Amino acid sequence: MFTDESHDLLTVPTGNLRIPEAPPVTAGDNVSESPDDRAVYFSLVIPTFNEAKNIRKIVELLTKLLDGFIADDYELIVVDDNSPDCTWELAQALMSEYPQLRVMRRQEEKGLSTAVIRGWQAAKGQVLGVIDADLQHPPEVLQQLLAAIEQGADLATASRHVEGGGVSEWSVVRRFLSRGAQLLGLVILPRVIGRVSDPMSGYFMVRRSAIANRTMNPMGYKILIEVIGVGNIDQVAEVGYVFQERQEGESKVTWRQYVEYILHLLRLRSGGRVARLRKRWQPPVARFMRFGVVGLSGVGVDLGIFYLLREFAGLALTRSAILSSEVAIITNFLLNDAWTFGDISSKQKGWKRRIKRFIKFNIICLMGLILNVLLVNLLFNAFGMNEYLAKLIAIAAVTLWNFWINLKLSWRVTETK
Ligand code: GDD
Ligand code: MN
Repeated sequence: MFTDESHDLLTVPTGNLRIPEAPPVTAGDNVSESPDDRAVYFSLVIPTFNEAKNIRKIVELLTKLLDGFIADDYELIVVDDNSPDCTWELAQALMSEYPQLRVMRRQEEKGLSTAVIRGWQAAKGQVLGVIDADLQHPPEVLQQLLAAIEQGADLATASRHVEGGGVSEWSVVRRFLSRGAQLLGLVILPRVIGRVSDPMSGYFMVRRSAIANRTMNPMGYKILIEVIGVGNIDQVAEVGYVFQERQEGESKVTWRQYVEYILHLLRLRSGGRVARLRKRWQPPVARFMRFGVVGLSGVGVDLGIFYLLREFAGLALTRSAILSSEVAIITNFLLNDAWTFGDISSKQKGWKRRIKRFIKFNIICLMGLILNVLLVNLLFNAFGMNEYLAKLIAIAAVTLWNFWINLKLSWRVTETK
């Protein structure tokens, strides 16, 4: 059994959700410095709600791993929202076995994002991180994330959508919802959502200095979006990981999180922070020109193949049109892959990845086609515009859309430098 000394819980910070610039430690007088208020390099918050079945295991795994390379220079902070299964009590009991473990029990506030920030407010580290308690985030990735920070990144996120990343057994519906949310984010808040390949990630670390003294106001689940939105983040690094299946307990995600996500995006958008990010942003003009040239070549291919199929193969109109369009999509893809986005695809070699890019490109083109038809109809029927002008505007809008979405989803650039 454990020793009798009872370990205190952390006091829950109140007031603004703002991280202090310097860790809350007693500086100066080293003689009286107790191990309890010593600064550390890395603070990892583990938010929990009903994770009684996972808490011991995750603490054990993280300790084993982190002891391997930053022993004595890190802390684990469990922030529990008064779980009915008493996760906080179990965590508290673990403290005598794991001296680097600290536990916060919140009884008033609730919610994942604020839990993480409250944990960071109590943190003594220079680098602040977060990981799920349910073992869906593989702990090994921490080492690469920390390495990225050491190399100068302000933010290092674990991503399901870069090399080495993925989801284990997600249904098509769940994948679709997840990607749909990302797409929506790109439309509403491109300069925040577009900075990382996996904006929904709840597994990342950030330099304290990048988010200190900024009042955060997150909603629901997606704390990373708030960090990018209000933080002063220059360099971003991403490390691929496979989102594991949950073995114990259950997910707390409901439809509410989707609504909160959208509201969160809208609020960040109107928050005026975006203007600051805009200055840093350089429009990819040359790339867009190349994309335009390739697009024009596609029109030629489309028409040419259509002509051949109609005149020489005697194929029906619709079939010819579909087939010729698909051929043009293929040639467009090949040209874009080799030229427009050549610098990016050369970093993502291999057939598998190329085919993946092609499938995404294809889907985005099809969505563009639907958008095109909708726009022409809208401009012509609702605004009474000349139909050729309407078509021209639709083509321009869809070209922009295709370019932007392809840039962000098919050929993704992560600005690591
Ligand atoms: N303190 C606290 N309060 N913790 C919470 C709350 C809450 O209200 N809700 C959830 N948690 C904890 C869970 O106990 C778990 O450790 C972690 O937050 C993630 O919750 P899950 O319910 O397991 O979420 P998921 O499996 O759908 O994961 C998705 O969200 C994660 C968090 O953003 C994915 O998008 C992950 O990539 C992401 O990390
Ligand atoms: Mn989970």
